[in-house]
Amino acid sequence: MVTTRTPLIAGNWKMNLDHLQAIAFVQKLAWSLKDAKHDFSSVEAVVFPPATDLRSVQTLLDADKLELGLGAQDLSSHDSGAYTGEISGAFLRALDVQYVLVGHSERRTLHSEGDDVVASKVAAAHRHGLVPMICVGETAADLEEHGPSAVPVAQLRASLTEVPADAEIVVAYEPVWAIGSGQAATPEQAQQVCAALREALVEIAGPERAATTRVLYGGSVKSNNIASFLREPDVDGALVGGASLDVAEFTSIVRFRSHVGV
Ligand code: PGA
Repeated sequence: MVTTRTPLIAGNWKMNLDHLQAIAFVQKLAWSLKDAKHDFSSVEAVVFPPATDLRSVQTLLDADKLELGLGAQDLSSHDSGAYTGEISGAFLRALDVQYVLVGHSERRTLHSEGDDVVASKVAAAHRHGLVPMICVGETAADLEEHGPSAVPVAQLRASLTEVPADAEIVVAYEPVWAIGSGQAATPEQAQQVCAALREALVEIAGPERAATTRVLYGGSVKSNNIASFLREPDVDGALVGGASLDVAEFTSIVRFRSHVGV
């Protein structure tokens, strides 16, 4: 089956940049990508600012007709009501948010979000027309005990129990030991797990859905290693943390096709 999956580069800002800083950053990023004559239809670029920045960034993207995509870092599994501090997927959708991170290891670890919470957030995203970017990945201990693919594949299966098989998703494989550590997985390791995740998608959602779903790698992605990941057949993009906060660095990552040897 011949399929083309448009590569997706996602910048997860985490808890960085307030709304004023976000506006300045997105303006610079837009100029930088424009200067580089970036073709957004060949590589999709999406920013994931903190929730308090979304309105400002959305207004800017809208006013200046910028082609950058907009994602949120989290959503509630509920739609509305007495859930203090939570943010409904409906509110995100009203801000033209397209993607939402679900199951990031920092939420699994620091906020005790287990597979059941992840599954209900994936369902909430789907209900509101948001594409969940489902993050999966093993810790160093998991890797030692279970090998490379078992934990990420089990997390993916568990995350999809409450949505129809044809629900649009993006999967991000992020080994926990590679996040923020400066020690990225090797391209071969990333390929092995991304291929196993796609195999699992074949079983869960069928070959067509599996062939069109983007599976990203994340964990210490920089401009000097992005091209090596994107050369792998089952790696369709990257979820970038630290390096997404530097305009030149993030531009270079989005422009990975201009790197030598790609
Ligand atoms: P990093 O973070 O690029 O800083 O390793 C990735 C992530 O947590 O999504």
